[in-house]
Amino acid sequence: MAPSPRASSFFSGVLLLFLLSVALAPVPAAATGVFRVRRKFPRHAGGAGEEAEEHLAALRRHDGRRHGRLLGAVDLPLGGVGLPTETGLYFTRIEIGAPPKGYYVQVDTGSDILWVNCIRCDGCPTRSGLGIELTQYDPAGSGSTVGCNQEFCVANNDGVRPTCSSESPCQFRITYGDGSSTTGFFVNDLLQYDKVSGDGQTTPSNASITFGCGAQLGGDLGSSSQALDGILGFGQSNSSMLSQLAAAGKVQKIFAHCLDTVHGGGIFAIGNVVQPKVKTTPLVPGMPHYNVNLKGIAVGGATLQLPTNTFDSGRNKGTIIDSGTTLAYLPEAVYKTLMSAVFDKYQDMTIRTYQDFLCFKFSGSVDDGFPIITFSFEEDLTLNVYPHDYLFQNGNDFYCVGFLNGGLQTKDGKDMVLLGDLVLSNKLVVYDLENQVIGWTDYNCSSSIKIKDDMTGFTYTVDAHNLSSGWRFQWHNSLVLLLVTTIWSYLMF
Ligand SMILES: *[C@@H]1O[C@H](CO)[C@@H](O)[C@H](O)[C@H]1NC(C)=O
Ligand SMILES: *[C@@H]1O[C@H](CO)[C@@H](O)[C@H](O)[C@H]1NC(C)=O
Ligand SMILES: *[C@@H]1O[C@H](CO)[C@@H](O)[C@H](O)[C@H]1NC(C)=O
Ligand SMILES: *[C@@H]1O[C@H](CO)[C@@H](O)[C@H](O)[C@H]1NC(C)=O
Repeated sequence: MAPSPRASSFFSGVLLLFLLSVALAPVPAAATGVFRVRRKFPRHAGGAGEEAEEHLAALRRHDGRRHGRLLGAVDLPLGGVGLPTETGLYFTRIEIGAPPKGYYVQVDTGSDILWVNCIRCDGCPTRSGLGIELTQYDPAGSGSTVGCNQEFCVANNDGVRPTCSSESPCQFRITYGDGSSTTGFFVNDLLQYDKVSGDGQTTPSNASITFGCGAQLGGDLGSSSQALDGILGFGQSNSSMLSQLAAAGKVQKIFAHCLDTVHGGGIFAIGNVVQPKVKTTPLVPGMPHYNVNLKGIAVGGATLQLPTNTFDSGRNKGTIIDSGTTLAYLPEAVYKTLMSAVFDKYQDMTIRTYQDFLCFKFSGSVDDGFPIITFSFEEDLTLNVYPHDYLFQNGNDFYCVGFLNGGLQTKDGKDMVLLGDLVLSNKLVVYDLENQVIGWTDYNCSSSIKIKDDMTGFTYTVDAHNLSSGWRFQWHNSLVLLLVTTIWSYLMF
């Protein structure tokens, strides 16, 4: 299903960012870099009727593809939405090679490797409806191919593959939920990034990293009018860019994001956040994604009565926290109980269903008219979701609920909770992989945070930045990565 022309005008945001850290000493020091990220979907669709419906459909298409990518071992319960055609929610620009070239990649906490389309690749897009110029990576430049018997390949494949000969490259293949895929081989090249070197200051820096060169794209990935050059996985595995930079002593395995849907702007940083302080909950060990243990849900302060074991999801444990997913998905029993509590005051309200979203007319402030939903996690970490976060405005006085019925179904038939941007926005979310915890706090994402470089002891302020309109012309300085701060804003149509 081709994206409608209208869908591409819905996206538009911009981000920018900046970040921090230090490192003057000859010892390797944790660094910080900068990512500029754009958001594809505004939180509020401007129009009503068809446009609003298209917007809702686009959100689900995005998440549909997303789920396939996120949960390799999990079956998707999404149905009736057509093939996902969106590439993702955020993208940033990175620079690779010497001399460096820029590539636009989706930032994805649900996958592990960085890959970009290779030169002469089969099925790769040459144009993008996102208004960006696509670039194919040429490994014949400063890069070198990684062999299947080299350490990176052996470690990430749990040993040498039987088919490996000394001449063979280290190959990868990623298959997504909608049937699209990327196949290619690993290369090694220089990643260029801006290391934060002072309050609001950065210094160009570089590191050698191993990443995928996409030789063949299958399915929608190559044909999408919202095509990008690749995907930057922010997952936990040793093959991720974050892990490689950490292994090289360039950064600590800690990153954070703060996405401001109220004013635009935000932060996405790699580094040890010391201000604000966040309370944390343990990550469920051994899971490929960022899973935590959800204990209960309260609406307006009253705890929902849910069957015991509601959140015990069998083999795939816990609740997935994923900033690359737009909405939030709940198992049916949880969804129904939650919705009846949210609408308890409005027994007579007419609630209509559009594309599986519950929608209704309401005038006045939703924050005054609807309750706060509170999720409670292991070790007393709570997460408040405010009405302006979970209710999307779709035209005048018309709102839809961003929670959807249908958790992610695992292979053993259990439903998992998946919490995306809907609940993560307007909070500073910290992923501390060094200590295997994740935490958050309500935060003004238009303000600033402080990050400490534990090797040098320096602490720098990282401010939110806003590129807004004209962002392409403002991207003139070097490129980025690592201690990343992101900011975005939305253009309304
Ligand atoms: C990479 O960084 C080193 C040390 O900072 C610098 O000397 C070198 O010129 C950089 N290389 C490139 C290609 O930018
Ligand atoms: C990942 O790398 C760390 C440090 O290099 C190593 O101790 C660990 O065993 C690796 N994990 C896997 C699954 O290879
Ligand atoms: C970003 O820029 C736009 C347009 O200049 C402005 O309306 C918006 O308030 C800015 N947001 C922040 C967080 O500064
Ligand atoms: C958030 O921070 C920005 C920048 O410091 C400030 O201008 C704005 O007033 C703050 N918003 C709130 C609600 O405090």
